[in-house]
Amino acid sequence: MKPTVEIGETTIVEEQCTIGYEYHKDAGPVRIGEHGIIRMGTIIYCDVIAGDYLQTGHHAVIRPFTQLGNYCSVFHHVVLEGLSSFGDGVRLMVGVYVPSRTTIGNHVFVGPGTMFLNDKYPCRSEAPETPRGPTIEDDVVIGGGCTIGPGIRIGRGSFIAAGTLVMKDVPEKSLVYGTPMQYRPLPPHLDRPNDRGMTEAAYDIWHPEIDLPEEAKW
Ligand SMILES: CC(C)(COP(=O)(O)OP(=O)(O)OC[C@H]1O[C@@H](n2cnc3c(N)ncnc32)[C@H](O)[C@@H]1OP(=O)(O)O)[C@@H](O)C(=O)NCCC(=O)NCCS
Repeated sequence: MKPTVEIGETTIVEEQCTIGYEYHKDAGPVRIGEHGIIRMGTIIYCDVIAGDYLQTGHHAVIRPFTQLGNYCSVFHHVVLEGLSSFGDGVRLMVGVYVPSRTTIGNHVFVGPGTMFLNDKYPCRSEAPETPRGPTIEDDVVIGGGCTIGPGIRIGRGSFIAAGTLVMKDVPEKSLVYGTPMQYRPLPPHLDRPNDRGMTEAAYDIWHPEIDLPEEAKW
């Protein structure tokens, strides 16, 4: 019997998407909430659950046992490998890579091209362990072009500067930057939770129901 695919009635599914990709004979259902937009070229495997206001970009790939809360954005060419959970208001910008066994909390922003890793000694372990991705607590910002190492925990509210390689745990409310990475308490201008107007934005600028921005007038 084919696995169930349940998509909220108000969610827009564009052409050339695959939702409920049957990767296994025992694959289970896909459930996607209301008010979402699944853009052309998205592939969502079976065994994926997403809340309301899911937005995907072109060629986003979401693999099994991925759970996404409400208001999550998975933009162009993002790959979520599965066995991972994402809270509410998680924004994954273009080209983010999330390996299996990663946990991301609520209202987290991840800039374009950031890579998360889950295997510290790939192919070189005498007794291979189950890979373990990072854990990102609530209200973290990770800038563009960062690498976040296997099993790393980034504490609540921290801000990771663009291009940082994070191979050590980060205490909450830290600003992290440089090579090798350094951290210090957040400066006053960054010491605040992430703006819910951004993390819970229902739609991005090119959503069909949003007015075009001023600069878009020729
Ligand atoms: C870290 C960050 C918040 C600092 O901004 P700021 O507080 O306004 O600080 P400034 O720009 O005044 O820079 C302060 C110092 O940090 C350095 N610096 C800034 N960004 C840095 C970075 N990403 N890595 C390393 N050093 C950085 C600056 O060169 C400057 O050094 P100096 O004091 O020796 O001159 C910002 O540069 C950043 O990386 N933001 C993330 C951008 C991003 O990835 N956005 C994704 C969506 S597009």
